[in-house]
Formats: sequence, structure tokens, C-alpha cells
Amino acid sequence: MPVDICGIKLAHPVINGSGTFDAIAARRVFGDALDANFPFAAFVSKTITLEPRLGNPPPRLFETAAGLINSIGLPNRGLAGYLEHDLPQLATLPVPLITNVMGSNADEVGQLFDALEGRDEIAAIELNVSCPNVKTGLDIGSDPGELTKLLAAVRSRSSKPLIVKLTPNTANVALVASAAEASGADAVSLINTLRAFAADPARPGKAWLGGGTGGQSGPAIRAVALAQTVAVAAAVELPIIAMGGISNAANGQQFLDAGARLIAVGTESFRDPGCAAAVRDGLAQAV
Ligand SMILES: Cc1cc2nc3c(=O)[nH]c(=O)nc-3n(C[C@H](O)[C@H](O)[C@H](O)COP(=O)(O)O)c2cc1C
Repeated sequence: MPVDICGIKLAHPVINGSGTFDAIAARRVFGDALDANFPFAAFVSKTITLEPRLGNPPPRLFETAAGLINSIGLPNRGLAGYLEHDLPQLATLPVPLITNVMGSNADEVGQLFDALEGRDEIAAIELNVSCPNVKTGLDIGSDPGELTKLLAAVRSRSSKPLIVKLTPNTANVALVASAAEASGADAVSLINTLRAFAADPARPGKAWLGGGTGGQSGPAIRAVALAQTVAVAAAVELPIIAMGGISNAANGQQFLDAGARLIAVGTESFRDPGCAAAVRDGLAQAV
């Protein structure tokens, strides 16, 4: 099942959704056994930002009927911490590394691109555009014009393949994907979490999550993710990395049939860390 994405050769089409599998912690627990049967064909890091972030106050997770709502708030060591602590470890994984980054404006994204430019350990960059524009309050990736402006300012600052991770919280995801394509993206990934609210059963009208609103993921969003994958596949020529509630090979295959080049397993890895390997093996058997 070898796949080529942006010139990167992968053994099969299953990767992880950013922020849903901690490969460094998993290696601490499982040691060489993790590398011997590494479930993903490429590894996507959790989002890193220029400065360290503590993330949102707890509680950060709320289980729903078919998935979960998270308001983790992108805690991370920041660029310098990533380069010093995480990158050396992630670089020794047995698969290509995709580093996921986010900035709240072109200057921040440009600085992130510059810092990653000389790092041959990084095969590609995934740009998470689910970040609010400080002026408008809208996610940068929810508006084709905003995304075009951002990419126009930063695309030339990285020679690495650029995957733009689209937000589903937009009126027309196909328009945003087309803007990414026209502005130099090499691939798009979708979907990120859908904006959601968990009501606190003990405090009517109040939010359960410390961060207020959160993002729904898991099987509950699978049909939305499929619809957006179909819409984006019809709009762009770019390779698509699709995710959203994938929990077995059969629903992974639906995303491939909808036009995805790769699929990612996210929330299901929390319930069953063996899920991605099972999806990979199930797809191989079906070939
Ligand atoms: C706990 C949690 C943390 C996440 N962290 C990130 C992140 O750091 N960066 C990012 O781009 N997406 C992040 N995501 C979104 C996932 O990568 C994925 O796009 C989304 O959850 C949909 O896939 P799924 O339903 O299989 O989880 C996170 C999702 C969850 C549930």
C-alpha cells in the first residue's frame, strides 16, 4: 500500500491526527516494541507555537455519546522547547516526521517556518489555521481571503512541503481549500474539531470545560468529515489527508474512496491505542 504524498514515500496511508498520539510517552512505556510495529506511516507532531503555552484550565475533556469535546488549548513547549527537547526524539521515530505549527499572524508563522527550514529531520510542515485572528476574532482558516493573505506572506519562507490543516468551522470549506491551493499549499488536511459546547449538569447554563467552548471529535463528526472530504476533493487537485472519527478500516476506506490520499486516526487512539495498526492491517487485507 505504498503512497507518495508531496514527494514523501510512505509505506501505507495511515497517519495520526495531530495532538492525539504522544509518541514520546508511548516510547517511554513500550520501548522498542513501539518502533517494531509503529502504527503510523508518518508521524504528525502536536501543534507548536512560537511561545510556550500552558493550555486551558481544567476540565479539558468531556465525553459525548460518540466521541469527545476537548478544550486542551494547545499546550506546548513553544518553538525553542520543541527544537531542544521533542525534535531530537521525534527524529528517531522509524517514519517521516510532519511538524504541525500555528501562529496568530503572518509574522509568527513566518518565524516558525524560518526556524524549521534547516531541519532535515522534518519532512513536511502542517499549518494549523484554526487560530483566531486577533483583530476579527474569526479563525484565519475560516475565511478564504484571510488564508490567502497569510500564505502570500509566509509561503516563500519554507522550502518544505506545506500541508494546510483546514478548519471545518467555516461556511464553505471547498472555497478555503481552493484558496490554499492557489496560494502554494502542497496538500490539505481535514477535518479539525467542530466547535462544540458541553453543558455543566450541576450549573445550568454554564460550561463544563474550563476553556468555555471546545471541539468535538470522534465518530460523531465522521459524516461531516466525509462530506467535507468529498467537497474538497471536487474543488482541488491537491492531495488530501482526511480524518474525523475514523475507528476501523471500513470507515477509513470510505475516506479513501471519497478522494483522500492519506487518512489519520485521532480520537479513537485514546480509546484503543491499537486502532491505527488495525486500520492499516485491515486496509492491507482488503487490497
Ligand atoms: C485531545 C485532542 C487534541 C488535539 N490537538 C490538536 C493539535 O494540537 N493540533 C491540531 O491540528 N489538531 C489537534 N486535534 C485535532 C485532531 O488532530 C483531528 O483533526 C480531529 O480530532 C478529528 O479527528 P478524530 O475525530 O479522529 O479525532 C486534537 C484533537 C483532540 C481530540
